[in-house]
Amino acid sequence: MDAEEFRAEGQTSAEVTIVVCASCRDESGSDAHPRAGERLAQATREVSRGKPVRVQQVECLGNCKRRLSAALLRDGCWSYVFGDLTEHSGADLLTGAELFTQTVDGTLPWRGRPDSLKRGLIARIPPSDFLKDII
Ligand code: FES
Repeated sequence: MDAEEFRAEGQTSAEVTIVVCASCRDESGSDAHPRAGERLAQATREVSRGKPVRVQQVECLGNCKRRLSAALLRDGCWSYVFGDLTEHSGADLLTGAELFTQTVDGTLPWRGRPDSLKRGLIARIPPSDFLKDII
C-alpha cells in the first residue's frame, strides 16, 4: 500500500498509543521497584495528560538488552519499537506520537522526529495490509 492507497482506504483513526515497557531496568540492573521503566511510563503518562494519545505499559517488549524500551502503535500503520531510552524520554515519546497522528502514508515521519527516536529505533513492523506476496 502506498500513500495514495493509504488515504483512499480512509485511515481515519489517528489515535496513537505509546507503549512503555515497565520492566526495563536502569544501567545498575537493579530489580528494585519502581524500575526505571515504570518511572518512564509514569513520566510519559504525566507529560501526555490532556493530549490525544494513549499511554499504556507492558511487561516486556523483547528488547531488554537495549535499556529502556517503548513502542508507538497506530491502527493501520507501521509499528515502531525503540530502545536506549532514559527515564526522561517521555517528552520525546509524546513528540513522536503527535507526529505519528499526522502521518499520511502510515509511517512515522523522520523529519521532526526527536533524536532519541532516530538513534533508538530498533524495528518497524508493517501492518498486514502493507505486506506483499513473494513473486
Ligand atoms: S524488560 Fe523491557 S524490553 Fe524486556
